[in-house]
Amino acid sequence: MSEEHQKKSFSVPAHIAIIMDGNGRWAKRRGLPRNAGHKQGAKAFENICDYCQKIGVKYVTAYAFSTENWKRPQSEVDAIMELLRSYLKEASKQAKRNVRLLFLGDRKPLASDLQQLMESAERESEKNTGITVCVALNYGGRAEIAHSARELAQMAARGELDPDSIDERLFERHLYTAGIPDPDLLIRPSGELRLSNFLLWQLAYTEFVFQDVLWPDFTPAHLDQAIAQYAKRNRRFGGI
Ligand code: IPE
Ligand code: IPE
Ligand code: MG
Repeated sequence: MSEEHQKKSFSVPAHIAIIMDGNGRWAKRRGLPRNAGHKQGAKAFENICDYCQKIGVKYVTAYAFSTENWKRPQSEVDAIMELLRSYLKEASKQAKRNVRLLFLGDRKPLASDLQQLMESAERESEKNTGITVCVALNYGGRAEIAHSARELAQMAARGELDPDSIDERLFERHLYTAGIPDPDLLIRPSGELRLSNFLLWQLAYTEFVFQDVLWPDFTPAHLDQAIAQYAKRNRRFGGI
């Protein structure tokens, strides 16, 4: 942890969620193909995860690919999946750095080799205690809520569950994020002011920071700025 953060470590959020947006615009401004932006964005992601671990953040959840991103040209989807593949092939490096990796989202539509890489990265890193990095991939907040409802309905139909016992805690245990505390801080770079179907349930009381930087240009200094804004907020959770 840096000295500066050590002094005020009380204000470092335990869980930071990030919508990694602006890769395409970053590339366009440089006259490069969109895929170059995704490549640079992947580097920013690794850099920011390292930094989060250094300053004592316990969980990072990053939006890498939404259930709506399939609408993009096939070549762009393929390039994003290819980046993910190379990230996963390097995942044992992450394991050595004491990073626990988790994936949120519906895996079934992904290539089977990718699914296998995801599973083994999760398995190999499950005992790591340094930081938990959740990658939201083919993730949609509405799909996640529908998925939880479907699982509970199936259990009820089989007679394993009394519908009256369904409460918020039980519902949460069937979300992709089961066992992970809600984010304290959500960061969206790129200047867009929307959630784009990210963590709709989990962000109920999260503090939002929107920044004008494009994700491939996002540095630890931007993260520090977001944390500084977060530290000034008064979180009331409905109280006074
Ligand atoms: C975010 O960057 C990456 C993904 C959504 C996969 P974009 O590709 O959305 O970049 P912009 O918003 O077009 O600049
Ligand atoms: C959200 O960004 C998804 C990811 C960053 C993975 P989008 O670029 O897909 O969101 P919209 O389309 O601008 O709302
Ligand atoms: Mg975008």
